[in-house]
Amino acid sequence: MLPLDSPPALHAAAPRCKPQRLEARVIDKRVAIVTGASRGIGRAIAERLAKDGRHVVLVARSAEGLAATDAAIKAAGGSCEIRPCDIANAADVQALVDGVAETHGRLDILVNNAGITRDTLLLRMTDEQWDEVLNVNLRSVFVACRAALRPMMRGKFGRIVNIGSVSGLSGNAGQANYAAAKAALVGFTKTVAKEMGAKGITANVVAPGFIETDMTDILGDTVKTAVLPNIPVRRFGKPEEIASAVAYATSDEAGFFTAQTIVVDGGMAA
Ligand code: NAI
Repeated sequence: MLPLDSPPALHAAAPRCKPQRLEARVIDKRVAIVTGASRGIGRAIAERLAKDGRHVVLVARSAEGLAATDAAIKAAGGSCEIRPCDIANAADVQALVDGVAETHGRLDILVNNAGITRDTLLLRMTDEQWDEVLNVNLRSVFVACRAALRPMMRGKFGRIVNIGSVSGLSGNAGQANYAAAKAALVGFTKTVAKEMGAKGITANVVAPGFIETDMTDILGDTVKTAVLPNIPVRRFGKPEEIASAVAYATSDEAGFFTAQTIVVDGGMAA
């Protein structure tokens, strides 16, 4: 039996791999999908994975939004491609994952990063605000993971990282929809890990605290200043600090690391 972390060349020699699939492979690099790669945490993850030698499939709603990430990766000598997809549409998510696996004959890494907030107190929360957040932040992850399992099983290797939030671990006033979706990701991801562990596929959650991105920019200086005393390191995190955790969890060496939630929050939720 092959070790879980054996490189692609060894997988290619495995008798259970289908020959026609191997012939379809156009690149030797591990192929990684990163959703929400146009800015913020997703962009940092995409740039880091490309720097680490992965071919990164950049996903966001529009190709224009991904152009800057694409250019930065290529300028640094990395490998990537743009695939626009609105992850609110389940059929499009399925087609995205199927398309990547079909084009490259492999899918090694899936980072479900894209997410939205529609914050308001529960008393005022509409059905639409609930459904929108659950659809984008949770249902898309279910569809993407389900679609990714077959190509990952064929390659006898898979690394799934779902981006959660400390809101999903501790709850947060004004975020009942968001906290519910992010909390659900933890149980979902542990289940993927347990179902797929024997297939060489790991699944983990990376749960950021307050990170400097557009999502937290809207909070305003008053809220930001009020939050700081609750963060032991006394600052917001940088997207690159989340990308480091994702880089480890998606690395070949992390084959024994699964069903975990890595909290990267400056100590806030401890
Ligand atoms: P952001 O708002 O800066 O970027 C979100 C990304 O997701 C963008 O690329 C956007 O185009 C994409 N996106 C949103 N809706 C989409 C859709 N329907 N289809 C395709 N792409 C879509 O967010 P940020 O801050 O970079 O957050 C990234 C992840 O980290 C999210 O899952 C968020 O919930 C999580 N997070 C962020 C924290 C923070 O402090 N910034 C804290 C905890 C978790």
